[in-house]
Amino acid sequence: MRERLQNKPVQNQFDISGLDLPAILATIEQEVRARFGEGEVADYIDALAKVPLDRFGMALVLRDGTIHEIGDSRDPFSIQSISKVHTLTMALDAVGEALWERVDREPSGDPFNSLLQLEYEKGIPRNPFMNAGALVVADVILSNYAKPEEALLEFMRARSGSADVGGDDVVAKSERESGFRNIATANFIRSYGNIVNDVDAVLDFYFLQCSLGMNCVDLARSVQFLSHSGFCDVSGKRVVSWELATRINSLMMTAGTYDAAGDFAFYVGLPAKSGVGGGIVAVVPHVMSLCVWYPGLDEKGNSMLGRYALHRFAQLTGLSVF
Ligand code: DON
Repeated sequence: MRERLQNKPVQNQFDISGLDLPAILATIEQEVRARFGEGEVADYIDALAKVPLDRFGMALVLRDGTIHEIGDSRDPFSIQSISKVHTLTMALDAVGEALWERVDREPSGDPFNSLLQLEYEKGIPRNPFMNAGALVVADVILSNYAKPEEALLEFMRARSGSADVGGDDVVAKSERESGFRNIATANFIRSYGNIVNDVDAVLDFYFLQCSLGMNCVDLARSVQFLSHSGFCDVSGKRVVSWELATRINSLMMTAGTYDAAGDFAFYVGLPAKSGVGGGIVAVVPHVMSLCVWYPGLDEKGNSMLGRYALHRFAQLTGLSVF
């Protein structure tokens, strides 16, 4: 047993040399274009309500750095909750396993902005991807980084290889003005002592992370380390251990798409994280990272045709963690 634990983890489980990835992406784009207009934009954030429903982009980053992309893959959009993967990684880097004393690792089965479980679970959010969990993660970052906002931007720029990544003040302001539920959530958690910094500072950081503008290629590259056992080829740095990369992927599978995580596991079968800007990142462990963007959302807040595109991608390639 001991000897086994010292072995290197299995890699290259999937041989994709027989796949015509450009042709697969072209098929998906054609199918998605025929359905343009489906879903609703996130109109609770003014700035997002104006994005038209005729935008679709998709990008794949393979282990050797090859990029395949299609459609509006270089158009920046608001990454919203996709940022929760990156802030979780930063918080784990800062405090390690101690994070799990403050945030659980269970799927919630409730909407991303629900407060329901917080009272009977005494201010411990179910997982780091629902808003409550992301606010605690933001609090951990505020306590452990001297310049939290700069550290976040630096992390995003290093992972994506794009110096352009930045916050969008209009989106952040728009969200702050309508952020009654997030404000309530942060204060509620504070009342249990599971947020220790100034609530407004935690919320400002959270609204900044949600407002970051990135495109599909940037985002697929930003999670490339999760498809490469924790090593980021873009910056040439190890971001997390291979074991932690598998753990973050497992959280994306069980909670990355909120109360649709079961449906995503069923139809897509890949770890994924969505945002209400219409982006979804996904990971094929040891093979590639992906990002898809279509701004129309389903009732759970996940990109309607983004989910469809990932479903078709999994079907056409046969790639799945199951
Ligand atoms: O907290 C909010 O309401 C948003 N800024 C982020 C939510 C989000 O992206 C949920 N994802 N599907």
